[in-house]
Amino acid sequence: MSETPHNKQLYIETVGCQMNMLDSELVVAALRKQQFELTNDIKAADTILFNTCSVREHAEHKIYSQLGRIKFQKRNRPNLVIGVMGCMAQKDQELIFEKAPHVDLVVGTGQLGEIPRLIDEARGSRKRLTALSLDRKGGSRESVANSFESYDPLRDPEMRPSPYQAFVRIMIGCDKFCTYCVVPMTRGPEQSRPPSLIAAEVRTLAEQGVKEVTLLGQTVNSYRHTEDGREYRLSDLLELIHDTEGIDRIKFVTNYPKDMTDDLLQAVRDLPKVCRYLHVPAQSGCDEQLKAMKRGYTIADYRDMMHRINATIPGCAVSSDFIVGFCGETEESFQKSMSLIEEFRFKNSFIFKYSERPGTKAHGLWPDDIPEDVKKRRNNEMLDLQNRISEEDNAEFIGTTVEVLCEGPSKTATKRGEADTDSPSIQLVGRTDCDRIVVFDGNPRLAGSLVEIDIHDITTTTLLGSIVTRQVNHGLEIDLPVVS
Ligand code: 5AD
Ligand code: SF4
Repeated sequence: MSETPHNKQLYIETVGCQMNMLDSELVVAALRKQQFELTNDIKAADTILFNTCSVREHAEHKIYSQLGRIKFQKRNRPNLVIGVMGCMAQKDQELIFEKAPHVDLVVGTGQLGEIPRLIDEARGSRKRLTALSLDRKGGSRESVANSFESYDPLRDPEMRPSPYQAFVRIMIGCDKFCTYCVVPMTRGPEQSRPPSLIAAEVRTLAEQGVKEVTLLGQTVNSYRHTEDGREYRLSDLLELIHDTEGIDRIKFVTNYPKDMTDDLLQAVRDLPKVCRYLHVPAQSGCDEQLKAMKRGYTIADYRDMMHRINATIPGCAVSSDFIVGFCGETEESFQKSMSLIEEFRFKNSFIFKYSERPGTKAHGLWPDDIPEDVKKRRNNEMLDLQNRISEEDNAEFIGTTVEVLCEGPSKTATKRGEADTDSPSIQLVGRTDCDRIVVFDGNPRLAGSLVEIDIHDITTTTLLGSIVTRQVNHGLEIDLPVVS
């Protein structure tokens, strides 16, 4: 097909999880190969893509209102192509065309590799196009799984969290079917990628200057793949990629409590580049709620896991997710979740108000019976408690020295425009190996390197400090903080 003229300017908006960020990176890389350029100006682009999330209704509303806002742009720009990709595309399918008739493309999570071709075709034919995977009940497990393709061929450094950090997908999909969650439908059956492919990808990233890789999976610690007659679990995969030259740090998210096996904890303990940080969502502190959520563990199981984590990896930071206001959550159940946070003092918790999702088990079984104002109050109370704990635990760092992987200018420095100057000292940001955010002043050239920071103040989310400089003085090595 001959190409219809357009300005090759691409606007892409991404909402949702890290998996979505990675998907956008890969789509942008593929489009750059076809000479597309990224723009932040939606009005300047002839190609507009929304990479969407369906986990909560709110995220979908945001996309529909964004789509509403660009409704009339096609009037003067006949070459404009608007695409909706990702979870909402897979979930809502044709409904997107009904709600937003100006959309040209609907592309599910398993068809992202087709986007360059589909954009061309849509622009040329002016026909609406869809590329979607099978529904979970749309065929045998194998055929459904095959319809969700892992798409990881190309990378785009500009789309990464920083030039020194990259996501690496080790598995796709989810088979846990928690009753509130839409992900098993939008991302399909659980499938682990071959270890040799993952190791090669990590090597390529390291050659491109990446220092920290974050392995991604919806339940990353359920990873299992047999290659050359050997079964690899996440612990084996960590060992396999650990010695990759140039890589300083390895993280993995998100973990499923039931699959937090001892071999994995021992790998985190024994492999120095693996960060002492585990994100293991509890979701609730109440057994009845966990059962209704079909999480597959009890609070006693979660407690046993926490004890094993603390016994095996001293100093390991653990963070969690909680849902408040799930069907039938009594005040007493909510208080049990609060007690769980008190007991385990998570580094941080991501707290969500339950959002009823059509297509999930909970939607079919129970009413969404907790009023919005109660959900809001519980959310705020939980946030206050978690913030108090995070602040208290962060305060323990005051007066200590931590090792930080410097990621580059802080948000404040970027906002102030300092990031683009030649200033020898600006505000920088990085993280400790237990995932605490650290802000300090220093030369922007430190980005990508490990630096020692003296911590002298904190907030609920951040440690504040200054770089430790070492001065050799008559054979004595003394630490001098940089005075900024
Ligand atoms: N409503 C609210 N929160 C949800 N999550 C998943 N599904 C829902 C829902 N329907 C939360 C869980 C999960 C995180 C990514 O999103 O806490 O761990
Ligand atoms: Fe959703 Fe549960 Fe799978 Fe996590 S484990 S993606 S919450 S179904």
